[in-house]
Amino acid sequence: MAVRVSAPTAGVAAAAAAAFLLLTLWGSFSSASQELRRPPAKIGVIGAGIGGTSAAYFLRQRFGKDVQIDVFEKGEVGGRLATVSVEGKNYEAGGSVIHPLNLHMKHFVNMLGLSVPAKQGGLMGIYNGDEFVFEESSWYIWNIIKLLWNYGLNALRMHMWVEEILDKFMRIYRYQSHDYAFSTSEALLHALGGSDFLWMLNQTIDKSMQKASFSQKFINEMVTPVMRVNYGQSTSINGFVGAVSLAGADSGLWSIEGGNKLACTGLLEASKAHGISGTVISLEEKARLEGRSGGTRKLYEVTYNSSMGLRSDLYDIILIATPLQRKIANITFRSFKPPIPEFSRPYQPIVATFIHGQINASFFGCQDPSQFYLNAIFTTENPNLFFNSLGVVSPVQNKMDQILGSQVWKIFSPESLTKEQINLLFSSYDAVEEKKWLAYPHYNPPEKCPPVILHDHMYYLNSIECLASAMEMSAISAKNVALLAHHRWYNKTDMIDQEDLHERLKTEL
Ligand SMILES: Cc1cc2nc3c(=O)[nH]c(=O)nc-3n(C[C@H](O)[C@H](O)[C@H](O)COP(=O)(O)OP(=O)(O)OC[C@H]3O[C@@H](n4cnc5c(N)ncnc54)[C@H](O)[C@@H]3O)c2cc1C
Ligand SMILES: *[C@@H]1O[C@H](CO)[C@@H](O)[C@H](O)[C@H]1NC(C)=O
Ligand SMILES: *[C@@H]1O[C@H](CO)[C@@H](O)[C@H](O)[C@H]1NC(C)=O
Ligand SMILES: *[C@@H]1O[C@H](CO)[C@@H](O)[C@H](O)[C@H]1NC(C)=O
Ligand SMILES: *[C@@H]1O[C@H](CO)[C@@H](O)[C@H](O)[C@H]1NC(C)=O
Ligand SMILES: *[C@@H]1O[C@H](CO)[C@@H](O)[C@H](O)[C@H]1NC(C)=O
Repeated sequence: MAVRVSAPTAGVAAAAAAAFLLLTLWGSFSSASQELRRPPAKIGVIGAGIGGTSAAYFLRQRFGKDVQIDVFEKGEVGGRLATVSVEGKNYEAGGSVIHPLNLHMKHFVNMLGLSVPAKQGGLMGIYNGDEFVFEESSWYIWNIIKLLWNYGLNALRMHMWVEEILDKFMRIYRYQSHDYAFSTSEALLHALGGSDFLWMLNQTIDKSMQKASFSQKFINEMVTPVMRVNYGQSTSINGFVGAVSLAGADSGLWSIEGGNKLACTGLLEASKAHGISGTVISLEEKARLEGRSGGTRKLYEVTYNSSMGLRSDLYDIILIATPLQRKIANITFRSFKPPIPEFSRPYQPIVATFIHGQINASFFGCQDPSQFYLNAIFTTENPNLFFNSLGVVSPVQNKMDQILGSQVWKIFSPESLTKEQINLLFSSYDAVEEKKWLAYPHYNPPEKCPPVILHDHMYYLNSIECLASAMEMSAISAKNVALLAHHRWYNKTDMIDQEDLHERLKTEL
């Protein structure tokens, strides 16, 4: 500013110096930060679950107020965060609990002004098909004694083992607050815990814990039930998702008052994105001639089906925020070179059944129903069992004014429950509601994660589910992809896949 004002009144030499200064400044701007590149005009996001909606929010932060962001959704905003109504009250049917250290989810709730209701306690039992191998009591000390008696120090050691993994996992927030991004799910995992973490993707949680010298009895009776309730699978899932699952058995878990899906509707609104109700059918690469420069500009054409019929629209950047699985998304990639491969990873079918009724205590070997006080029942691996878990649930609203004695149970099972099975589990009931899911990947280590970068400016958020499927994982992936898309658009390659970030950021205080 000072240079410009003084230039006309100064001598020729000063004017020349000023011009030189301006030129060098200009030069350094264009080469150093590439701010001169045209910003993207339109970004398309496919899927309005927690991944797509939080991506819209992070994209807005990164790319500024002028870019148009469209979010396509074929069903309900929320996706796998959804509620089911039983006798006029709503219950979480999909993703339900959030860990106290899930910092992105926490931030969303605070920023959106949502609230978290008080949690009701309850007692848990682990059933093996014949009897309870473990029953919690309301006396805390007695639980500790029982754990020590049955499993020695395994329970305490597991707590420490999970804590150590969680500690490294938390590094992601530091990296992301410094804008670092990763181009593959494996690179992200490696940046958190090095080859130890990558190794966990290659073996089962069973093997991982055996190597860490946990007893097989402990794994079968305490770890398996947690895998069954959280992922509907056995201890043959990969070690990393297994550890995430064990962290999901920590205390202090929370959920959002009114339903977790409120985070998605809130984020969509906060991002000032356009929600488009329609099913994306295909994506195609298109080259457009650029006005004067004579160059071509690559765009992506999204074809979708809505109540207005079939339509197409062009985008600079595309984020796919749904599993690319024919039974879930069924999106055709047209004329990409090289072609986008087919990702055929199966997703685990899970049925959530809600039953308002009286549990049949004698089914669980308890002859006196008044003595049956458990409200969460986990199970061990047993081919005769037709369910994975059952537990009393509270509605997403007015959790505290639930009438005592009148309870709604949520049962997870691999298949729909038959009338006979319901009659075995319940001595009487008033209402049954069912929700079927293709819930999360069927894990089968060694895992090979699908790519995050599908094409120059086309990204796949749900690649991260190969590490672990959880709300926070989708939010982490959303922020990673928003950063990655931004860095790649402006060629800031020094912000992608950096080595030794943990060490470097330590000294950068
Ligand atoms: C029964 C169950 C229990 C769970 N429990 C927990 C838990 O306690 N804690 C936890 O953290 N996580 C839990 N999860 C996992 C968690 O719910 C998911 O990891 C997370 O919600 C995934 O979010 P997303 O946005 O990545 O995908 P989704 O929520 O699946 O969103 C994808 C969206 O894309 C839409 N879509 C798909 N194809 C198209 C198309 N062609 N055009 C337009 N739209 C399309 C879908 O309709 C959907 O809304 C659970 C999941 C299930 C199913
Ligand atoms: C995991 O297995 C894959 C093959 O599936 C292999 O390429 C990779 O090197 C293995 N990673 C580690 C850390 O052993
Ligand atoms: C588009 O949706 C309509 C109505 O939902 C349906 O009848 C039609 O078959 C769909 N078209 C395609 C190409 O999927
Ligand atoms: C996916 O869509 C194609 C047409 O685009 C259709 O032929 C095919 O049957 C669909 N597959 C599934 C599993 O819906
Ligand atoms: C309850 O469980 C017992 C034992 O499995 C079974 O015999 C009985 O039919 C079940 N149903 C009722 C309504 O008691
Ligand atoms: C960014 O990098 C690509 C290739 O790496 C190059 O073609 C393009 O010209 C670069 N863009 C800018 C603005 O520097």
